Parts: sequence; structure tokens; C-alpha cells
Amino acid sequence: PEITFVTTAGEEITKEIPVGLSLMRGAVEAGINDILAECGGVASCGTCKIILDEANAGRIPPADAFEGSMLEDDPEGWRLSCQIIVDDTLEGLVVRLAPTEY
Ligand code: FES
Repeated sequence: PEITFVTTAGEEITKEIPVGLSLMRGAVEAGINDILAECGGVASCGTCKIILDEANAGRIPPADAFEGSMLEDDPEGWRLSCQIIVDDTLEGLVVRLAPTEY
């Protein structure tokens, strides 16, 4: 599906992301380099965070307890992009890349 990433600088980049990849991996492979993903996708670093508005958040299954534990201090709508697996239902999804506080 085509997914639009809004960078921290406000640039919108729309890319075709293969089904089965995590959003994090898909973005990195598409050349979007705002996502550091320091842990490589095992939900332990928090440097792959994205922000979903309400409409987009409703299209993705809620965070499990493990992912949720990484998001305790974050506002609603923040997710770990490495824990979201791309499928065909995500056509047209818009995600904002979260600023990294490190
Ligand atoms: Fe580290 Fe997602 S890549 S938490």
C-alpha cells in the first residue's frame, strides 16, 4: 500500500511499502532517514516512534502490553513503527515521524 510519512521537518513523502514489512522497516528501506530504529525493531529503543491522528490510529490494532510499556510517557496516538505490520488495509495511511529526544 501507499503510505505517507510526514517528516519532523514537515515534508510529506509517499511511498509504496511492501506488505509484511513493519512500518519502520518499510520507511527505512524507502529511504526515509528520520527513523533511527536503534534497536533494529525489537521494541526496546523507542527511536522509531510515529504519531497517528485519530482517523489513522483507528486503522491499526492497538498496542500490546509490551509496546505499550514503551509508550507510557507519550501522548495518545504515539506508536512504535517497528511493531506495526503493513498490510493492504493501510492504503493511504498517514503517519507523522515523532521527534527523537535523544
Ligand atoms: Fe527500536 Fe522500534 S526500532 S523500538
